[in-house]
Order: sequence, then structure tokens, then C-alpha cells
Amino acid sequence: MALKERSKPTQCKKPNGWIGRLVLRNMNDRHSAVTDWGFRHVAVERGFSILDVGCGGGRTLAKLAQMAREGTVHGIDYSETSVAASRKLNAVELASGRIAVKLGSVSELPFPPDHFDLVTAVETHIWWPDVPAGAREIRRVLKPGGRLAVISEVYRGANTRAARACAKYAARVGLTLLDPDGHRELLQAAGYADVQIILEETNGWIFATGMK
Ligand SMILES: C[S@@+](CC[C@H](N)C(=O)[O-])C[C@H]1O[C@@H](n2cnc3c(N)ncnc32)[C@H](O)[C@@H]1O
Repeated sequence: MALKERSKPTQCKKPNGWIGRLVLRNMNDRHSAVTDWGFRHVAVERGFSILDVGCGGGRTLAKLAQMAREGTVHGIDYSETSVAASRKLNAVELASGRIAVKLGSVSELPFPPDHFDLVTAVETHIWWPDVPAGAREIRRVLKPGGRLAVISEVYRGANTRAARACAKYAARVGLTLLDPDGHRELLQAAGYADVQIILEETNGWIFATGMK
């Protein structure tokens, strides 16, 4: 079977083994532009304590560490392959203690309450087993006034080929594809205030944020 066929969608949901490593390298490149676009909509202060959920290949951790130069950046992912790739990519920052990467699930984050100024989730929430529970669990670890920033290159209703394909196969592959109102309702129901949804309609990208 061709690599492309074997690598999707399970390798996006939970990268594993050598194919997973290739997929993660590819995602580090492919998700960079949407990540940069999303980060234009969120304030990242130099001393922030940040968590990136579903950190994958680790490029977002590197970007965040560049922005929060006096802060700390944690990554979490439930895939051992992702954790290893994130650690490898960020070996220098890891050694200096500015970045840390843990194995764990968004459903049960291994952090105390009121811990982070910012939690980012890039291209991952669509794969969570229980998206509302994940949003609530992230809110638990945010400091009061802290923000969740969800960034995705696909949402339900976007006028792109990728969005139409995802909508068609969502149920079959276990993908939760929300429309913009669905993102707003998700964050409001999880207890977030000041919920904002920003779309980049040409590419079909979405940025959703809320404050604890
Ligand atoms: C499509 S990849 C995106 C990776 C990275 N954020 C990026 O933008 O390239 C999704 C990542 O989320 C992780 N993930 C999916 N569900 C998760 C969960 N329930 N808890 C923690 N990580 C999860 C996967 O293991 C994978 O590394």
C-alpha cells in the first residue's frame, strides 16, 4: 500500500513508528503557515507559561519559545512518536529547561489548576475523543485571565476541497468537524469568556479563542 494511503488518517490522529515520523516532519512544514496566521491573533508575552496540546513534531513549541523568550513552554501529546519528535527537534531548548515535553492526553492533563497563561492547540482538537471535555480540562489548567487558542486548517462549512473531504469522511475516521458557530458554542459551554472566532476563508482556516 502506498505511503500516502497508509499514513492517513490514523497517522494524523496518533502518529506511530517510522511512518509517523515522516508524517510529523511533513506536518511541521505544512502547519507552519496556519500556525503563524493564528498566532497573529493572540498576545504572547515574553514571560508567559505556555502549554501546546497535541504538540506533534514540535515546531509550534519552537515558535512559542521564540516568542516567550523569558517564559517556559510545555508540550503534551498522547503519541510516544510525537513526544520523541518534539524532544528531538527542540533538544537545545529542552536541555536549557525552556521547553519540556510530556506524554499525556488532553482528557487528563498532568498539570495543576491555574498553571498556564496560554494553551495552544494546533490542528489537533478535531481528533480528540471528547472535544468538550478537552476544552474543559484545558480551562482547568489555565490561570484566571489565561487564554486557549485553537488553530485549524479545516472547519465544517469552509469552501475548500479539504473541508468538503473531511466533512464527508468525518464520521468514518472519528474526526469532530465543527463549524464556526460550533466552535463558539464549544468554548462558551466549557466556561470560556470573550470567545472570538476568526476565519481565513481563502484557505479555510479557523482561529478560536476564549479566556478563563
Ligand atoms: C495532526 S497532528 C498536529 C500536530 C501539531 N500540533 C502540528 O500542528 O503539526 C495531531 C496531534 O495531536 C495529537 N493528539 C490527538 N489526540 C490527542 C489527545 N487526545 N491528547 C493528546 N494529544 C492528542 C496527535 O498524537 C498528534 O501528534
